[in-house]
Amino acid sequence: MKIGIAFNLKRQPKPDEPQDKYAEYDERTTIDAIKKALESGGHAVVLLEADENFVEKVKEEKPHFVFNIAEGISGPGRESYVPVVLDMLGIPYTGSNPLTLAITLDKGRTNEILRHHGIPVPDWWISYNADEVPNVKFPVIVKPNAEGSSKGIRNNSIAYNERQVKKIVRYVIETYNQPAIIQRYLTGREFTVSIIGNNPPRVLPIVEVTYDYLPKEMNRIDSYEVKWIWDSPNNPIDSIVCPAKIDKKLEESIKDVALRTYRALGCVDFCRIDMRLDEKNVPNVLDVNALPGLIPDPRENSRFPKAAYAAGYTYEKLINEILHHAIERVGKKHMAHNASFR
Ligand SMILES: Nc1ncnc2c1ncn2[C@@H]1O[C@H](COP(=O)(O)OP(=O)(O)O)[C@@H](O)[C@H]1O
Ligand SMILES: [Mg+2]
Repeated sequence: MKIGIAFNLKRQPKPDEPQDKYAEYDERTTIDAIKKALESGGHAVVLLEADENFVEKVKEEKPHFVFNIAEGISGPGRESYVPVVLDMLGIPYTGSNPLTLAITLDKGRTNEILRHHGIPVPDWWISYNADEVPNVKFPVIVKPNAEGSSKGIRNNSIAYNERQVKKIVRYVIETYNQPAIIQRYLTGREFTVSIIGNNPPRVLPIVEVTYDYLPKEMNRIDSYEVKWIWDSPNNPIDSIVCPAKIDKKLEESIKDVALRTYRALGCVDFCRIDMRLDEKNVPNVLDVNALPGLIPDPRENSRFPKAAYAAGYTYEKLINEILHHAIERVGKKHMAHNASFR
């Protein structure tokens, strides 16, 4: 098959741009590794950078299927842009549909759906204005409502009083041009759970994210500083444990929350769900990553591939299996329809 890879390439921010502007985007090495993996599966691969010329490129290349890792360019629907275009052109793709991608990018909306389904999430409030913050229970963490890769989550994003909340909400709204989500701060163990496939989806070995290596004065959160500065390939840190050392009961409850979350949000093919334990050891969902990072180098601690390696996958097998699940889901009928598009 001819497979297109839809992606956004990481660039160096210009001096006047925020340092984390391209944090969500992928390195050339990741795109090349996905290409190589798909080629090893016997496919012809074309690269489709998801910029403003994406529609024209797809129409010209006419891929049979697209492997989508594009985070999008701007706006709250940015992750949906590629699947919307592909749906319009009748080209099937890996991963969740535009609705699921738009919702999971919005932490407040995601929490509303999860709570409706009885899935534990820490209490949260959305703030549109730093002068009018809701009456919250401290301590809280303040995050941009619709970012990822720890953008806008700094070591000092935790607040213990109203003055601190207002200050962080102002920073988030002004820097990221969007509402802030204020959320009860859970200090329990943190896990991230990778799921692959459909009917039924499979939970890969659970990753625990640890912070023991951090100096005492730093908060135990996966802040921007921790994710991208403290833990780099030149300074590899043992920040993740996979499989997590947990008892059977906790493992079952983490898996149960992860699978219910996957289904409630309509995720398909693959996804990674971040969680933290509350004071009763109940796993609460913090974040749903319907386009999880797929950095191949194990030293980068990319969590989805790490979980897959722990389950015995190679990178090639992981990428081809995601594609395989998508093909199976889409079904032969759609593929036949797609043939006419060519
Ligand atoms: N409610 C919370 N309680 C405790 N820690 C949190 C909470 N929300 C986020 N964090 C910490 O911040 C990190 C990043 O938050 P997350 O919601 O996953 O954002 P992103 O979409 O940028 O990954 C989490 O991995 C966790 O360490
Ligand atoms: Mg996260």
